[in-house]
Amino acid sequence: MDSMEANKGIAAVLVAGIVFFLSGTVGTILVNEHAPSKTAIKIDVPEPAAAAATPALAPSPPIANLLAKADVGAGQAYVKKVCEACHSVNEGGKAGIGPNLYNVVGGPHAHMVGFNYSDALKAKTGPWTFDELNEWLRKPAAYAPGTRMTYAGIANDQDRANVIDYLHTLSPRPEPLPAPVAEAAAAPAPAATAAPAAPTEPPIDTLLASADAATGEADTRKLGCVACHTFADGGKAGLGPNLYGVLGAPHGHMEGFNYSAALKAKTGPWTYAELNEWLTKPSAYAPGTRMSFVGIKNAKERADVIAYLRSLSANPEPLPAN
Ligand code: HEC
Ligand code: HEC
Repeated sequence: MDSMEANKGIAAVLVAGIVFFLSGTVGTILVNEHAPSKTAIKIDVPEPAAAAATPALAPSPPIANLLAKADVGAGQAYVKKVCEACHSVNEGGKAGIGPNLYNVVGGPHAHMVGFNYSDALKAKTGPWTFDELNEWLRKPAAYAPGTRMTYAGIANDQDRANVIDYLHTLSPRPEPLPAPVAEAAAAPAPAATAAPAAPTEPPIDTLLASADAATGEADTRKLGCVACHTFADGGKAGLGPNLYGVLGAPHGHMEGFNYSAALKAKTGPWTYAELNEWLTKPSAYAPGTRMSFVGIKNAKERADVIAYLRSLSANPEPLPAN
């Protein structure tokens, strides 16, 4: 055995020991996190079915304009009195009947990892925008029929804006408030219907702030990336190149892989923005590419996958600053 082999042997033993140690520790943390999640609070709230029977709501004034005169202190008091029966609001707070609400503004729908959301809420894509929170909190059962949040909603426009203004502060980097709009232009928006129009895609930097590498890893299986790519350090090429360390590496980064001229013609490192564009539609980013894959339509899914690619490194690149 040469000294390289000996080192590998020692490293393998060390890694095995560390993994064993960590799995014990992680196991303990998981158990502690989950044990006390039952709560004894019982709240009398109307059934969502009863709420759904009432006639459609009149449109809300634009949330941007309501937020312009919102009162954070009043919002906090409202949340304390009403919402905290089911929700925690502090960073890392536990789930109660509802999920923790830290960082929910701008986060994806169903943003708390591990919380058992309804299919109704899980079916909503994209981040929670101010408009969507406005619709949701007016009448949860109308925004997401079948939701588990058995709460009638906040009918008063200004109360609702105060609450949203407060939710928006629950973040290390609060989203900027939307600019007020002319009422006439915004009034005919189909605000009373359950399904708000799909918002334009938020910038990848924003999406990455709430992206989840573990979900991204699962997505690479769901989307079929694993059929063509390996992801481990030193993994072999398949139909596609190994992807370890691809973020920040040059285009066509795997030594010896037979890339298309289209991809080889791209210069510079793979940035977050370029991976985002590539994965949206490979054939548009690099016409003539050999990657016969349609692309990932869902922006959040794309961000999760990119967050996963980012993690494939001994020294992951910093996330983009928002
Ligand atoms: C009776 C308990 C209850 C009350 C009261 C309640 N919620 Fe909820 N809330 C829930 C549950 C349960 C969910 C998950 C809904 C689902 O999965 O359909 C939820 C979900 C949410 C979400 C979505 C979170 C995410 O991760 O996507 C937001 C935002 C929210 N609630 C805000 C509020 C606010 C603000 C109030 C007070 C005005 C409030 N809730 C009052 C139980 C409650
Ligand atoms: C049908 C096989 C196939 C599938 C499925 C596929 N790829 Fe690829 N991928 C390729 C090939 C082939 C290339 C090289 C493209 C070229 O040379 O034009 C490539 C290149 C790449 C690159 C650039 C690597 C570099 O070194 O520059 C990235 C990043 C990538 N794929 C990510 C993904 C992700 C993420 C998915 C799933 C969402 C995916 N691919 C799905 C075959 C595939």
